[in-house]
Amino acid sequence: SASNSATGADNAAGREAPIASNPPAAARSVSAATAGTTGIGDPYFPGDGNGGYDVTHYALALAYEPRSKHLGGSATIDAKATQELSQFNLDLHGFTVSAVTVNGRPAQFERHGDELTIFSDLRDGAAFKVAVAYAGTPDPVQNSSNLGSYGFIPTADGAFVTCEPNGAKTWFPSNDHPSDKATFDFTLTVPEGVTAIANGELAGTPQTKDGKTTFVWRESNPMVTYLATMTTGKFQVRTGDSPGGIPVYAATDPRFSKSLNSLYDQSARITDYWTTVFGPYPFKSTGGVVDDFAAGYALENQTKPIYGGFEPDEGIIAHELAHQWFGNSLSINRWKDLWLNEGFATYAEWLWSEHRGNGTAQQSFEDAYASATDEIWKYPPGVTRPNDLFNASVYVRGGMALHALRTEIGDTKFFPLLKKWTADHRYGNVTTEQFIDMAEKISGEQLDDLFDAWLFKPAKPASVG
Ligand code: ARG
Ligand code: ZN
Repeated sequence: SASNSATGADNAAGREAPIASNPPAAARSVSAATAGTTGIGDPYFPGDGNGGYDVTHYALALAYEPRSKHLGGSATIDAKATQELSQFNLDLHGFTVSAVTVNGRPAQFERHGDELTIFSDLRDGAAFKVAVAYAGTPDPVQNSSNLGSYGFIPTADGAFVTCEPNGAKTWFPSNDHPSDKATFDFTLTVPEGVTAIANGELAGTPQTKDGKTTFVWRESNPMVTYLATMTTGKFQVRTGDSPGGIPVYAATDPRFSKSLNSLYDQSARITDYWTTVFGPYPFKSTGGVVDDFAAGYALENQTKPIYGGFEPDEGIIAHELAHQWFGNSLSINRWKDLWLNEGFATYAEWLWSEHRGNGTAQQSFEDAYASATDEIWKYPPGVTRPNDLFNASVYVRGGMALHALRTEIGDTKFFPLLKKWTADHRYGNVTTEQFIDMAEKISGEQLDDLFDAWLFKPAKPASVG
């Protein structure tokens, strides 16, 4: 309810940490058993996510001023305790938190690094609502050697928001790990003339008042935090329905206006085609965004992949839209399994090229095999390396692994496997072991040697086909 909004809460309850004296030590001498852990248990990113609860919904009400780069507002989070709690954490990088409420009552909190600790007594299984009021200048991750720049990145006319792997915390307090999926509402206020683009669909026409426009977006299907976006700026927008009846939203920065129609058409056609290969489209709309920010990569933001400073060709659109099934509907539970996203999306590029008559997947496989570097053969993609998450092996050798599987079990088993994989785990979290199990069940074959060779051994497997 409105009274739960943290914005009006008593500031005295919230504190900037560390402050030693208040609350009394007794109030905070928690037994480890009732403190939610500061990480969700992924050894690759030990501080990411948190233990002790599951988020079901994020309602983000945020205003952004491109000129001053000021972001502020509230995040209201519905969650369920998975243990008895005396305190729990959210991930948040930077910002000043002015107030926190739990179930409408002011709660004490502390900040330590990228952890926001909230003190509240909750029963195991209790549903609760936490509201965080915060503001400041977003501080994205910049030029990290492994991951590049990501998070909430201010641009000349707005912001480019791409958060894989753990940049959601650069713009909202969250359980920032793909193993905790939730639905999202976004109420985004920007200066008139600026477009705010988030996931899902617009709820009504944006309203303008006193020189500010508010866009309300709703993602009604579960989403991982790294796919959430509030990309803002000057955009030209085209909307409609794909030939197959899926609503499409395409947007381009004015510098890329000549790509708007091709972005729209390709995104529509490719989404339709993937439904015939991967199964029903998991979300309520599709589309794409081209922003004038030279990220050097694209990201499969749910319902609206974003392309950073380049005109996307069919191959990359096919890749990002394949992620709507592989990565977005079916999400990894641990970062080590990232090939389940990138290997599948890369193989999808080869399937698209085959569909278009531009070379069979076998030819794409042979080209990739012939041009693979020693580094790829030394890097088994089945266990992604935390310090090299987006290595070419995860993409290309991951794709080759799927082609080797297809060659081994045949099209009559391989394509039904893809559809069963996406159907059985729709909106869920998956592991490599589950995929191997399903491949063995559907094919009736023992596939350990094949997966060992392609996913797990640091050596060059024999070619296939
Ligand atoms: N998942 C993206 C893609 O393959 C890549 C994201 C790269 N992220 C990053 N922080 N560099 O489409
Ligand atoms: Zn990808």
